Amino acid sequence: MGKYAETFRRSIDDPEGFWMEQAALVNWFRRPTRALDDSNPPLYRWFPDGTLNTCFNALDRHVAAGRGEQVALIYDSPVTGSQQSLTYEGLTERVAALAGALRQLGVAKGDRVLIYMPMVPEAVMAMLACARLGAVHSVVFGGFAASELAARIDDAEPVVIVAASCGVEASKVIEYKPMLDKALSLASHQPRTCVMLQRPQAEAKLDESRDVDFELAMRSGADDPAECVPVLATDPLYVLYTSGTTGKPKGIVRDNGGHAVAMAWSMTNLYDIHPGQVWWTASDVGWVVGHSYIVYAPLLIGATTVMYEGKPVGTPDAGAFWRVMAEHRVEAFFTAPTAMRAIKKEDPHGELMAGHDLSALRTVFLAGERLDTDTYAWATEQVGVPVVDHWWQTETGWAIVGNLRGLEPMPLKPGSPSVPVPGWDVRILDEHGQPVSAGTDGAICVRLPLPPGALPTLWGDDERFVSSYLSAFDGYYLSGDGGHVDEDGYVYVMGRTDDVINVSGHRMSTGVIEGVLASHPAVAECAVIGVSDPMKGQVPRGFVVLKADVDVDPDELTKELVAAVRDEVGPVAVFRSVSIVPALPKTRSGKILRKSMREIADGKDPLVPSTIEDPGVLDTLRPMLRDS
Ligand code: COA
Ligand code: AMP
Repeated sequence: MGKYAETFRRSIDDPEGFWMEQAALVNWFRRPTRALDDSNPPLYRWFPDGTLNTCFNALDRHVAAGRGEQVALIYDSPVTGSQQSLTYEGLTERVAALAGALRQLGVAKGDRVLIYMPMVPEAVMAMLACARLGAVHSVVFGGFAASELAARIDDAEPVVIVAASCGVEASKVIEYKPMLDKALSLASHQPRTCVMLQRPQAEAKLDESRDVDFELAMRSGADDPAECVPVLATDPLYVLYTSGTTGKPKGIVRDNGGHAVAMAWSMTNLYDIHPGQVWWTASDVGWVVGHSYIVYAPLLIGATTVMYEGKPVGTPDAGAFWRVMAEHRVEAFFTAPTAMRAIKKEDPHGELMAGHDLSALRTVFLAGERLDTDTYAWATEQVGVPVVDHWWQTETGWAIVGNLRGLEPMPLKPGSPSVPVPGWDVRILDEHGQPVSAGTDGAICVRLPLPPGALPTLWGDDERFVSSYLSAFDGYYLSGDGGHVDEDGYVYVMGRTDDVINVSGHRMSTGVIEGVLASHPAVAECAVIGVSDPMKGQVPRGFVVLKADVDVDPDELTKELVAAVRDEVGPVAVFRSVSIVPALPKTRSGKILRKSMREIADGKDPLVPSTIEDPGVLDTLRPMLRDS
């Protein structure tokens, strides 16, 4: 048996022994005496009696081990024309000061701190400062609108919000403070304090009764830096909201112990990155990819992480990624396929690669959406090193399926993210929960317990956790993706089986967009589906039926609806297309046939359910959908 097969088998047959062994990858204040707590299925916990501190593991222990002078974080920001390198010692000092400041502002173990910041080192400091105090951070991506931010504030109930005055995009500065003020005017919950990082591109006006300046707070915290607070392995490290199928975002909880172990294990075994090596993830700290692989995993193993405030194109051009890789001698790189497609569109022959020395680069990893074979082939040809797809979700925190470059690299098969990662007992089930044969599509599920690092529950809502993920098939986690496994055990992920869509590698809920459309006074009913887009993977497209008595200018209405989604969900939803239609196709029980609409839009000829109320309605929409 090869090393992969042997490790995988052991992780599934003896999870207790396997994960106890991996627990040695982190420093514990109190070593766990057992790995799995299975006393309350289907809820499982890892390392129940261990205590540790995630920030200590990401920073202090490396300083103590002699890595203080090594660069921990390289900040490269073409949008502001600045760069900064922070050593492990320097970053530890700043984080301890910020944690001291947060403690002065009343933040204690278990309290929530919401972070609303762009890709600046202070965002990483804020996350780690929370971890240092045993507080729970919740980072909200900058591209969401105020009402989405408000929903997260009300769910997480933060004591303090740490925000920046603005984000800097390729061609514009986006002021965050007005968005934060608006969110706070919408939210029922109010934080005690907002700590504002003033960026010179757009300084914010502070409200003296509530806001404090980030640097002033840091100075005060530096006089009283905070030590690492021991927490239980099962205590929450963060809550990260992600789109579900309903309007209410799901607060994915990550614990401290299982997460630290899984992050450290994956960094070496999956990504083949080791202490002292340079690693770059081009994503955003607002997404799970940013949490796991810009911040926690590389720091937990003592590597150097690159934080890039820019885009693949337009900052200044499609050569930006190659410039960053060459300049910082990046050994492995991780981004979303959409970023590669953006570069391919601007620079199809890779001419902008010229002059950049990519000799340090060993591997490119892609995830976040399906990697189409064209993009895979193009990227492989350009970079000349293995381009490795892997599949995971906000819920899982790390890869479920991948090619374990550090353990035993396997042959790459275009179209497949390769094989189940040790710890993940992947099964394909039919609608009755029965395993299907090789090559047959079904629901991709994982047999419980999920490994360390995966979500133990949803924030404050065990019931929703169970009903959303664990109740479809007894003893399994339902991923929400469909696909199959081939004869060699390679998994093929074909797409979501629910109403979640993926726009530029960003996960969106069509239900949330429908909620905005439905609240317009002229709209009687609506449906939003994700349609294929050559660059962004998918984009949302809306269909609305008007109320009988309204008389509106269709162009005007379309503009209003597009503006409403931008205003209430955010620009990142990329909602630009809405059609007024006479009716929506439905079953006799009134369920809108979104799946059939989606399939027609994707050029397929779906089997229309026999329960359809009026097949003529779908036929009327067909040309419009085909045009999508
Ligand atoms: N703050 C505020 N606004 C943001 C934002 C942020 N952090 N991120 C994106 N937006 C805005 C953009 O400015 C744009 O606004 P516009 O409609 O006024 O132009 C809108 O949201 C859509 O953004 P995006 O889908 O990112 O489109 P883009 O054309 O700006 O860039 C890509 C396209 C492919 C270059 C970009 O999406 C990208 O780099 N994607 C990488 C994917 C990624 O990081 N995924 C995370 C998981 S791995
Ligand atoms: P997110 O929670 O934002 O990371 O999005 C997770 C979803 O993105 C998954 O459920 C998949 O639908 C999709 N996804 C992520 N990575 C891949 C991949 N490598 N191949 C196919 N789909 C992917």
